[in-house]
Amino acid sequence: LAVIPAQTIKFDSFKDVVVRSAQSEDAGAIIEYTKMVLVDSDWSCTQSHEFDLTTEQEVEWIEDHRNSPGKLVIIALSGSDIVGLVDFANGSRERNRHVGVLGISVRKDWRRLGLGEVMLQILLDWAKVNPIIEKVTLAVFCTNKPAIGLYQKMGFSEEGRRIGEFKLSQEKYVDDLLLYINTKQA
Ligand SMILES: CC(C)(COP(=O)(O)OP(=O)(O)OC[C@H]1O[C@@H](n2cnc3c(N)ncnc32)[C@H](O)[C@@H]1OP(=O)(O)O)[C@@H](O)C(=O)NCCC(=O)NCCS
Repeated sequence: LAVIPAQTIKFDSFKDVVVRSAQSEDAGAIIEYTKMVLVDSDWSCTQSHEFDLTTEQEVEWIEDHRNSPGKLVIIALSGSDIVGLVDFANGSRERNRHVGVLGISVRKDWRRLGLGEVMLQILLDWAKVNPIIEKVTLAVFCTNKPAIGLYQKMGFSEEGRRIGEFKLSQEKYVDDLLLYINTKQA
């Protein structure tokens, strides 16, 4: 079962934030949150109007993560508002179950306060003691300076680049940067 205990994080000038595993009751709020953060989706392949998960599908996604030892969805809550989300899912085969892919977002008005770093550290701490997971990976638009800055600060390294992977307009292409961190090394 992949869940973390709820923990309260104190930010200097802001209210407390509770970080906990998502549960099926959060499905509707997660859909609304995701649509909201995708509105300024210069950093995401999926655009807001393309995000069309139903509540049932979202519940299934949350339950699949909760019931899989190598997967995790955590949300950060300010009161009842979701202000951050991290998801992680490992491979489904014997030969790739030690590796997983990470996603992270923080609500626009909560960025640059340290929440992304706190949430990513919680995921990496979980991965470190997880008996299956050895490597955390992610893919990021090469133009996404905030996210790349966060990943570099947390010790991620580049392992590849997919050239022109995303087409933003007729002339504008963006490379996909592949980053990783080994979680079982000091
Ligand atoms: C990437 C993201 C999650 C960072 O969250 P955040 O809470 O703002 O990040 P933090 O405040 O914890 O910052 C941690 C570090 O990240 C880097 N960073 C964050 N925002 C940055 C920015 N705008 N410019 C440069 N570096 C930045 C810095 O190294 C920072 O450390 P510092 O404060 O000591 O300088 C947030 O910008 C976001 O939600 N972006 C949209 C979604 C997204 O791009 N997700 C990643 C897709 S792969």
